[in-house]
Amino acid sequence: FVRGSLAGKKVVITAGPTREAIDPVRYLSNHSSGKMGYALAEAAAEAGATTILISGPTQLKTPARVTRIDVISAQDMYDASLSAAEGCDLFIAAAAVADYRPAQVAEQKLKKGSEDSITLTLIKNPDIVASVAALPRRPFTVGFAAESENLLEYGRAKLVRKQLDLVIANNISDSEIGFNSDDNAVTLIDHGSTQELNQRSKHQLARELIALLAHKITAPAH
Ligand code: PMT
Repeated sequence: FVRGSLAGKKVVITAGPTREAIDPVRYLSNHSSGKMGYALAEAAAEAGATTILISGPTQLKTPARVTRIDVISAQDMYDASLSAAEGCDLFIAAAAVADYRPAQVAEQKLKKGSEDSITLTLIKNPDIVASVAALPRRPFTVGFAAESENLLEYGRAKLVRKQLDLVIANNISDSEIGFNSDDNAVTLIDHGSTQELNQRSKHQLARELIALLAHKITAPAH
């Protein structure tokens, strides 16, 4: 990790969960705490980058020298990300974005009826990281893959389908790592190779990932 290794670079990072409203008091979400994305933002800022953190709802403090943009839903995160990613050098999608949202948001709180079961229709949210990767002047684009099985196969499939430069795959079947834990262990997957970084704190991991990414985006031929 080298201070100043990202001087003059603009880095945009998504973090945390999204919330998809069902009615004014209910939503669909997940257990992402934001810790991984915030640790990356802190490390990017320490490395000298102009750092923008696009954050779903979390309990975390904004790291020093990081500009934070708060969002709630996947659509909000999409809008904020696409405008911030314009002209950035590195985009890292650490957020756990809801893949689907309720097709309709009820204006009033839904009332309990006599039915024993009800059906919620969901529609697909836009894919943020894939849209950033499709920008005409695309940044170096990094996605995470949260997998509970077939880590390498599913991670590589995301690399190809979303046209990413790198996938950071985490195995979320172990509760000590992944969602809402202080530690993580990941496998980096790019178009030519894989590299494992075994279990360590998200802060330590973030500094190592930023060092690696700084090298990739500043090396003459990426
Ligand atoms: O927040 P923490 O508690 O610290 O936990 C960290 C984490 C486990 C959430 C994080 O390390 C992680 O893996 N984030 C991605 C989780 C995820 O939802 O992965 P996915 O396999 O569903 O999505 C793949 C990639 O596409 C991700 O980079 C995701 O941000 C991105 N994506 C997904 C859907 C969508 N509509 N837009 C996206 O950009």
